[in-house]
Amino acid sequence: MAVKINNISVHRIQPPKGSKIDFGAEIRGANLENLTEQDFEIIKNALYENSVVLFKNQQSLSPKAQFELTQKFDPSAGSYGHGKTIDAKRSVLHPDLKTIPHQPQVQVIGNGPVAEFEGLKNITLKHPHHKTFHKTPISEADDREATRFYRWHIDAALYDLSPPRVTSLMAVSVPKTEYQTLRYDDGSNDEMRVPRGSTAFVSSYRTYDLLSDEDKEFARTTKVQYAAHPYIWMSPARSRSDGLGLVSDGLELSREELPPIDEEKIKIYPMCWRNPVTGRLALQVHPSAVEKLHLADGTVISDLKEVRDIVHRLQRPGIAPELVYAINWDEGDLALFNNRGVLHSVTGSFKPEEVRIFRQCNLAASDDPLGPEV
Ligand SMILES: [Fe+2]
Repeated sequence: MAVKINNISVHRIQPPKGSKIDFGAEIRGANLENLTEQDFEIIKNALYENSVVLFKNQQSLSPKAQFELTQKFDPSAGSYGHGKTIDAKRSVLHPDLKTIPHQPQVQVIGNGPVAEFEGLKNITLKHPHHKTFHKTPISEADDREATRFYRWHIDAALYDLSPPRVTSLMAVSVPKTEYQTLRYDDGSNDEMRVPRGSTAFVSSYRTYDLLSDEDKEFARTTKVQYAAHPYIWMSPARSRSDGLGLVSDGLELSREELPPIDEEKIKIYPMCWRNPVTGRLALQVHPSAVEKLHLADGTVISDLKEVRDIVHRLQRPGIAPELVYAINWDEGDLALFNNRGVLHSVTGSFKPEEVRIFRQCNLAASDDPLGPEV
């Protein structure tokens, strides 16, 4: 039984048969347009304890209210998590996001032609499809039935700006069609059934807990250096089939091909980020944006293939099918997630005419994540 405080109750997600997920909750009874400080404390604690929280039937929540809710987690943050870098035509993020003119911290993502939405007129949204990012996509013949994790990631610029604390995702229009089989295609035979267009989450706390003692020690003492302008840098490179990092074919842009680099803006973060409420450690690395590893003894691993192989070996157990929470979106669902404690990925393929509309908001943070030291 969930405990009710101020009419708000928190209900753990019941894992489907065969699933071993230990995160995710639905919050009922919250009036998101009109939260008291006490209500917000309940929601904040629920978010940091459950990593992903879902509010049903939030159709009427305005983009402004979505922004304000997101900002409550970081009151002195104000601008979108990627700043203006998504405007760069070469960024891998560029095609996926459209900015709401009257609420620029909120982005529209989705699929299909939309005549009018929140001041955006005659837009065509395109659901990110893994064939634009993976080295070897699923065949055209299987594309309606099968899908992949598009790209496991944190919502973060990882250059200049600090990673947003939370992201909010609102499902405005959701075409409900057949489930798809999500394939890993990494030689493991792993696969899982997912609702078409599901957003997939894994707990980076679980990923850390799954490590051997030796790997935990390595993870706690290693720092991760991200590439400068990472989403432009990685744009010619291609992903592994499991969406968990890139294949090393030497395709990344050289420094000369990137916009000017300010060394001060390059991000080097601990490999483990501490949960501010529970104290748990998350193995939190953006696997596609990582460039170098700084080890405890001062060694810097800069061979990209080696860096990626290490990160993939540490993260891959955490995305096993039974550890993935694949949201079955209903219209009106609002999800909030701890962007510093989960990885997430788009999944699915849609026909060009299938209309799907989501609103996404996150804010470049006022601070950097907590490291493993207490
Ligand atoms: Fe995202």
